[in-house]
Amino acid sequence: MSFRNVTVAGTGVLGSQIAYQTALNGFKVTAYDLDADAAKKRVLALESSYQHDLHLTAADFQKGLDNLTFTTDLQTAVQDADFVIEALPEELEVKEKFYQQLSKVAPAKAIFASNSSTMIPSQLVKYVDRPAKFLNMHFANMIWLCNVAEIMGTSQTNPAVFQAVVDFAHDIKMVPIAIRKEQPGYVLNSLLIPFVVSAMSLWAKGVADPATVDKDWMISTGAPVGPFAMLDDVGLHTVKNIMLELYQTRHSDLFKQIADKLQPMIDEGKTGVTAGEGFYKYPHPAFRDPEFLKK
Ligand SMILES: NC(=O)c1ccc[n+]([C@@H]2O[C@H](COP(=O)([O-])OP(=O)(O)OC[C@H]3O[C@@H](n4cnc5c(N)ncnc54)[C@H](O)[C@@H]3O)[C@@H](O)[C@H]2O)c1
Repeated sequence: MSFRNVTVAGTGVLGSQIAYQTALNGFKVTAYDLDADAAKKRVLALESSYQHDLHLTAADFQKGLDNLTFTTDLQTAVQDADFVIEALPEELEVKEKFYQQLSKVAPAKAIFASNSSTMIPSQLVKYVDRPAKFLNMHFANMIWLCNVAEIMGTSQTNPAVFQAVVDFAHDIKMVPIAIRKEQPGYVLNSLLIPFVVSAMSLWAKGVADPATVDKDWMISTGAPVGPFAMLDDVGLHTVKNIMLELYQTRHSDLFKQIADKLQPMIDEGKTGVTAGEGFYKYPHPAFRDPEFLKK
């Protein structure tokens, strides 16, 4: 089972990266989005990153573009698809409607994968007509650098389908992370979320300030950054929203305390790296200063 024609449905932040990375590695890719012009602009905007980070020339970048077409029509998008990767907004109703329509128009050979960060495949498989050919394939933002693909099926996923997607991940220069049992948060977020929650709870309880927590972590483990530097990268709006969601689902006051502790920083516009300030000031955050780890 190998793929030639790949459709990426929803080419926003992640879908545009998945579509381009796949096209660059020789697959024929159709990018399907409600707004094809905006989708194309997002793909073209990746050129500077590929040039800077992977040293691609303009001619190399063009080779990827030559394998890519854009459409706003689902039927056209999937007419000869071997593999459809869905990267639509993280809203169950949007995905539900999409998979119902997709099931009607996709050829029987097509395998479907969702890039959802928070929905396990069992939540989505009920909307597809081919449960054996459905799984999740989860990429990380900036896929050309952070090149893992977490692959997670349901109990109904055909093992050969799972393996075909693992092989495809290799083909597009991802490192496949095979997840053998459904797990919200896959591997990465199952580790990362408790880690950053623990760090923020130390801060919220007044045990230690963010720089002290990061310093301890960095010196003790040799890690290049600590949890608060990671949170600045994610953006504190997003962090607060995740805390409020966890408060609703897990009913622990700790999540609310952390959200409340973040709120004044958000009110002051200190929302992280993109705002120029969060727990640290950018572009020269204190944790990058060689003296930071010495005292
Ligand atoms: N942003 C991230 O860092 C990240 C990382 C990993 C996984 N994800 C997952 O990827 C998926 C997409 O996230 P994103 O951040 O790229 O979202 P996004 O909002 O940037 O992109 C969604 C795209 O889907 C299009 N769209 C919306 N409804 C559509 C429809 N019915 N038909 C066709 N196109 C439609 C929009 O025009 C937009 O271009 C989510 O499931 C998210 O959990 C996101």
